[in-house]
Amino acid sequence: MKRFLSKALLAVGLCLPLPVSAEVAVPAGPAIGTVSREQGLEAWERMFAVVSHPRCANCHVGPSDRPMWSGESYGRTRPHGMNIRAGDSRIGAETLPCATCHLGENSNVPHSPPAVPDDWRLAPVEAHWFGQSAQTICNQLRDPELNGDRDYTEIAEHLGHDVILHWAWEPGGNREPAPGTLAAHIEDILHWGAAGMPCPE
Ligand code: HEC
Ligand code: HEC
Repeated sequence: MKRFLSKALLAVGLCLPLPVSAEVAVPAGPAIGTVSREQGLEAWERMFAVVSHPRCANCHVGPSDRPMWSGESYGRTRPHGMNIRAGDSRIGAETLPCATCHLGENSNVPHSPPAVPDDWRLAPVEAHWFGQSAQTICNQLRDPELNGDRDYTEIAEHLGHDVILHWAWEPGGNREPAPGTLAAHIEDILHWGAAGMPCPE
């Protein structure tokens, strides 16, 4: 139902010319064992540049319930202004819901709230990336107990359908987009997976 709903909302978004691209089709990717460990680690390096980027890490804050403001457009790194707390709900249901400001049309006005036609919320506690090392994030992403019980193809498919991911490459305002493209990031996940999901020592 939730998946259907977000698909429906995405369709609405596409009719309303919001700056959200269509879903990225996930290609088949190389077969397991056909990518060397070295190539897998190179793919991981590029993946790390994305997942540690402010456009991703600002929401992937781990056990904290405070979203972060970091990256060039924010000047200095600090917790979200206005004392915003996401609470256990991760959507601010206990205090001020994220959707109060983060719903609707993304704007190119500097410092306006980024908005997606879907529910804007903090990432799950287990997906803790803000300030974490390449090794820690890599181990989290390949651990089914910590990654929502997904294999690497399912992670790639999930990204292709996630409205927030599309936003990260078209963040609006004066924000720097995540490095590369969503399609290239998905390619890297498929190569990393086919190499056996190697992580830096
Ligand atoms: C607005 C906050 C927000 C931003 C920004 C964000 N995410 Fe997430 N992320 C989430 C939420 C919420 C979930 C859980 C949703 C789900 O599993 O359906 C999630 C889950 C994930 C997952 C699932 C695997 C796991 O370990 O739980 C991956 C992979 C992921 N995000 C990647 C990214 C990447 C890459 C970026 C930047 C390009 C990004 N996210 C930016 C909120 C965010
Ligand atoms: C009162 C309005 C308001 C509420 C409520 C609010 N935000 Fe924000 N948020 C903003 C504004 C405005 C910005 C952009 C500030 C800027 O660019 O200087 C922002 C930026 C962010 C960013 C940084 C995105 C990036 O990488 O550029 C994250 C993450 C974020 N909010 C998460 C949340 C979460 C999670 C909630 C709910 C728990 C929430 N916000 C509730 C107004 C709000």
